[in-house]
Amino acid sequence: MEALSLSVVLVFLSLVITVFAFRRRSHSDVKLPPGSFGWPIMGETMEFLFGKPENFVGDRMKKYSHEIFKTNILGEKTAVICGPTGNKFLFSNEQKLFTVFRPHPMQKLFRSYKTNAPAPPVQASPTDEVKSIRTPGFFKPEALMRYLAKMDSITQQQLDVHWEGLSEVKVFPLSKTVTLTLACRFFLGIDNPERIARLVGHFDDITLGMHSIILNVPGTIFYRANKAAAAIRKELVNVIKEKKAAMASGAPMQDILSHMIVAADPNGNFMPEAEIADKMMGLIVAGYSTVSTTITFFMKYVGENPDVYNRVLSEQLEISKGKKAGELLDWEDLSKMKYSWNVMCEVMRLVPPLQGTFREALCDFTYAGYTIPKGWKVYWTVSSTNKNPMYFKDPEKFNPSRYEDEEAPPPYTYVPFGGGPRLCPGKEYARLAVLTFIHNVVKRYKWEVLFPDEKIMGDMMPTPEKGLPIRLTRC
Ligand code: HEM
Repeated sequence: MEALSLSVVLVFLSLVITVFAFRRRSHSDVKLPPGSFGWPIMGETMEFLFGKPENFVGDRMKKYSHEIFKTNILGEKTAVICGPTGNKFLFSNEQKLFTVFRPHPMQKLFRSYKTNAPAPPVQASPTDEVKSIRTPGFFKPEALMRYLAKMDSITQQQLDVHWEGLSEVKVFPLSKTVTLTLACRFFLGIDNPERIARLVGHFDDITLGMHSIILNVPGTIFYRANKAAAAIRKELVNVIKEKKAAMASGAPMQDILSHMIVAADPNGNFMPEAEIADKMMGLIVAGYSTVSTTITFFMKYVGENPDVYNRVLSEQLEISKGKKAGELLDWEDLSKMKYSWNVMCEVMRLVPPLQGTFREALCDFTYAGYTIPKGWKVYWTVSSTNKNPMYFKDPEKFNPSRYEDEEAPPPYTYVPFGGGPRLCPGKEYARLAVLTFIHNVVKRYKWEVLFPDEKIMGDMMPTPEKGLPIRLTRC
């Protein structure tokens, strides 16, 4: 009996040893993607954050592989998957091979670490802010249709207040105020201009801090972002309290915030105010710099290309012709803005409002002959295709006509809003906001860009150094 037990133990032990030996060998034998992890601790974070994104990716694609390379950014071993095939692979394997991952600065600012996890690195919590806007369909065309007329009137008011009667203005501040005013109205249900003005600077700081080094000492980008997050949170908690009081007195709920306040989980628990504030902050940030960057660079490129301006203007005047004086935009008008949409697409190709996002590998997997171990981060970026002459002829040229049917870019080469199940949920909202701005601005003004060579700073959030001053002429 003892001999039998001993042999069972021995068989068991040898099995365990074999499994361990196999696992050790298999991990050291795997073929990792080519590339470099850079410096100890910092890895290649500095090059990633402060080099031109297309250079960071382009240089490594040339040096290592056009399909995939490894690096170490923001404290994570990362595989960067490149080109249209890479984009397709990534967008098609969501939750099979990858799950969403937010870089640590982002997790800290939006407090999205799992509460039971002692310290980073951990996976961001399931993106409830995304669920809260995808589920009730706030950004579906049926819902957006209701926003359009209001968007139009808010945009007109903003131009009246900030630009009317002036001969020289800066584009960037206005594009931010318009965008934040729209977001505050539709996401939070507030339209108090002083309150919105107070928030603008804070949102700028947070946006910069999302891709920064976590160093919480005065003077750093992260420190400023953290303070801004605290200030916004405080303001949002006040808004939530006011909203609750208004709802209790029977006011109708038409914004995302009201929906979050009344939505209970399957156990009947409501979301705590602080959590709602964090999620709303995440949502506004996602839609803030992206839309304002697109508006800003629309003004730059169209201001520098009079032929494009003339075509956009004639499309927009054609729409106005069919309307009574003062009548606001409707859904059908949007479908007639085809050329203006192409212009917006070309702006986003040359100055992508969002460079790319991260995922985390759920298991070891193979791509292009290389193994990406479980837990590594995977990064996809528009920079691997959007200026590649293989897909875009004369890639540096501003040419909105390249999207006209016969010249449409090949699949997965032009993905400013991502793709697959995580396709940007704010895409249609962004289209509406920018096209509404275009409609109003070209009908009112012609403009001249005063410094065509103005330096563009902040690679993760492109910012014209002087705020893009222009000379306006009333039409
Ligand atoms: C020109 C404007 C915009 C551009 C270019 C843009 C681009 C993107 C991209 C590339 C992604 C990443 C998709 C991925 O990870 O695969 C994304 C995600 C997201 N966007 Fe946008 N976006 C824009 C406007 C907006 C707006 C107005 C909102 C408003 C709410 C918004 C909300 C979000 C959210 C919540 C996510 C995360 C989705 C998820 O993780 O499932 N975006 N966006």
